[in-house]
Amino acid sequence: MGPEVVEFRDGEQLAVWQDFRLSTMPVLISSMHLCHAVFALADSGVLANLRNGKRRPEDGLLAGTVESIGLDFLKYLEMRGVLEQRADGYFLTRQGELLTEDVSLARLGVYLESYGPVVSRTSELLTGKATYGVDVHREGGPLGKHSASLFSIFHTPVLVEAMRGRGVQRMLDVGCGGGSLLVDACLRDPDLTGIGLDIDADAVEEAKRLASREGVADRLEFVVGDAFDPKSWPSVCLDADGLCIVSALHELFRDGEQAVIDVINAYGEVLPEQKILLVGEPEIRYDAFDNDDDFYLVHILTNQGLPRERAAWLDVFAKTNMECRRVYRRPEAGPRVCFYDLVPSKS
Ligand SMILES: C[S@@+](CC[C@H](N)C(=O)[O-])C[C@H]1O[C@@H](n2cnc3c(N)ncnc32)[C@H](O)[C@@H]1O
Repeated sequence: MGPEVVEFRDGEQLAVWQDFRLSTMPVLISSMHLCHAVFALADSGVLANLRNGKRRPEDGLLAGTVESIGLDFLKYLEMRGVLEQRADGYFLTRQGELLTEDVSLARLGVYLESYGPVVSRTSELLTGKATYGVDVHREGGPLGKHSASLFSIFHTPVLVEAMRGRGVQRMLDVGCGGGSLLVDACLRDPDLTGIGLDIDADAVEEAKRLASREGVADRLEFVVGDAFDPKSWPSVCLDADGLCIVSALHELFRDGEQAVIDVINAYGEVLPEQKILLVGEPEIRYDAFDNDDDFYLVHILTNQGLPRERAAWLDVFAKTNMECRRVYRRPEAGPRVCFYDLVPSKS
């Protein structure tokens, strides 16, 4: 016979624990950890091992990990419904497959890998004990890489459509991040060449690697430079006959609206042979749908200018020497981005 078990069921403690459950905090904690675990599943190479048919530790499923932790990690993922064990080893469940789709991993990567170092220091940023850009930085390389995955899927087809029939031969992508716009465009148009410019050296390196991997490095150059100071651009940028800037211009709102107006005018003037000037910008709608709230949070913590809604952008364009002749958008899928097609208005 085992020891006597004494159980307490006091109303006070039950009520406190019930409130904790009702608070949804248990779910929030689990979600936070599951995000890290799914990221690690992909980042550690275990996901690739699984996809390559290595389904059991003895087949190499845990290659690249500390096996003792790896074994318990697999058990955790099974508890969370990401993996399931069958007679011939581990398999992704349907939820596991969905969580590890390219779009899911790219979105997770943006928030965890690129902005995680920022959000984890929210308290210090809020109280001024740390300053963004000095003590705290987002990860530019991963931001470029994950934005690139999303870009290829959702935005490149829109841009290709916008460029159709415009005769652009050399495109300058300002704030190019991981370079996917230019790489994708070159893959679709064998005559196109381009230059990508970004202030983040890691993103530029990421872009060069992508161009090499995709076999278009001979048609593309990537340089480090300041998008908002066209006078400082390396001379290779000035050969372009088209310019685009995607998800970067709003950052200049931190210097006020006039700075954005001035730089749009400068873009209009800097390339005399310009056949297209496309501004792609995310729209914030201040809701909690599709991570709009998370998008807002990372923007305020990084001291970026806030993205604006379409009507507010049209107001800004109206104050420039350019006119927005068309807006391209994909309302039902992908990150909320509008592409504004600008042409000189006051010639
Ligand atoms: C959200 S990412 C977008 C990257 C890419 N255009 C895309 O849409 O996938 C914003 C990019 O703008 C770049 N950026 C921000 N400020 C910049 C500046 N002053 N000059 C050049 N690039 C800048 C960042 O380094 C980052 O790569």
